[in-house]
Formats: sequence, C-alpha cells, structure tokens
Amino acid sequence: MSSVLRHDPGSSSLRGTDAGTLQFGVMRVIDVDEVARIENDAYPFPWTRGNFLDSLDSSYDGWVLRESGGRIAGYFLLMPVVDEMHLLNITVRPDLQGQGLGSRLMAKVSERAAAAGIGAVLLEVRPSNQHALAVYRHIGFEQIGVRKNYYPAAAGCREDAIVMRLRLAEAKLGKASHNGGAQ
Ligand SMILES: CC(C)(COP(=O)(O)OP(=O)(O)OC[C@H]1O[C@@H](n2cnc3c(N)ncnc32)[C@H](O)[C@@H]1OP(=O)(O)O)[C@@H](O)C(=O)NCCC(=O)NCCS
Repeated sequence: MSSVLRHDPGSSSLRGTDAGTLQFGVMRVIDVDEVARIENDAYPFPWTRGNFLDSLDSSYDGWVLRESGGRIAGYFLLMPVVDEMHLLNITVRPDLQGQGLGSRLMAKVSERAAAAGIGAVLLEVRPSNQHALAVYRHIGFEQIGVRKNYYPAAAGCREDAIVMRLRLAEAKLGKASHNGGAQ
C-alpha cells in the first residue's frame, strides 16, 4: 500500500451522523471516481483511478463503507494468494479518520478472509506511516519482514515497506456491522 505522511483525524464527527447507519457495499466501477478522490486526499503517493479499475477488472475483492447519505467513508481491496489474504489498500476518508472506521473496515476484511477459508491477512506499510502502524499493531498485526526501497518517496527517494501479518485467530476486532443492515 502507499502511505500517508499527514494525518488530521476526525474533523467530521460520526456522533452526529450515527456510525451505526454506515453500510458496506461491493466496490463497483461507478464508485471509482469517488474512491480515487478520497485516495488523492489521503495519500501523498495515491493509487490512480486506473489502479482501482485494474483491481476490479482482476476481480479483487473491493468494498466500500457508505454513510447513510450514500457518501463513501472508507474502502478496501483484497487479493487472495493461496493461504493468505493480501490487503492491497485500506483507507478511511481523512475527515473521518481516528473514529473507529479503520477497525470497522478491518473487521470486514477479517470476515471476507474467513469466508474464503483464509486464516491470515498480509499488508505492507511505510515506516513513516506512524498512525497506520499503531492501528495495525493494536489490532494484532506483527512485522514479518521488510521490503527494501519498496515505495516512491519525496525528492525522488525510496522508502522501505514493513510487511505485517495478522493471524485472524489472534485479531482484536469486533464485528463489521453494528446494525444488521450491512452486507
Ligand atoms: C490507517 C487507517 C485506515 C486507520 O483507520 P482509522 O479510522 O484512523 O482508525 P481507527 O480510529 O478505526 O483505529 C483503529 C484502532 O486502532 C486504535 N488506535 C488508533 N490509534 C492508535 C495508537 N496511536 N496506538 C494504539 N492504538 C491506536 C484505535 O483505538 C482503534 O482500536 P479500537 O477499535 O479497539 O478502539 C486510516 O487512518 C487511514 O485511512 N489512513 C490514511 C491512509 C493509510 O495510511 N492507509 C494505510 C496504508 S498502509
């Protein structure tokens, strides 16, 4: 995954909009413009619209989490590889970060992996992405390796990727839906 170098969480509050009304839906091609706009706001080195379209074309497992008004609050994309589920992208809209939606998304990731009969989730994260690292460690991800010079970085430099794995049996996660209405 690409990474975030800035984090300004929670400028929109979920309290007023009732986090319980958020609903999951499969990511579709018509979602990609909105997803790509959020991606641009969330990352200094964002995925392109084409990256998302290619992922859907490859039948990767993409999901969006929507507010009751239909606006996308977050999304993720998964690629199963043998006995591991690779989390290619997980993003909460910047104004809603730090309010529990990352955990909601990760609970859905865990549900999708379990439904596929897969017991572990793998991801890559930048060492500079301190918020994401703290969230992943809190959930139970463990570092299993480093990919040297994996990501593009500022001024034409490169940044390593920390590879992390979550064994679902050890995950500290709740349920993806709180209201029974989510898919
Ligand atoms: C990374 C990201 C998906 C996390 O989502 P989020 O909404 O900010 O995270 P949440 O508020 O749901 O926090 C998730 C959990 O981590 C915990 N947590 C948050 N910050 C923490 C910290 N500094 N130390 C320990 N635990 C922390 C929260 O308490 C929560 O646990 P809980 O559900 O048991 O209460 C989101 O911040 C994001 O989209 N960032 C920008 C894009 C990005 O960097 N994506 C990842 C690329 S690898």
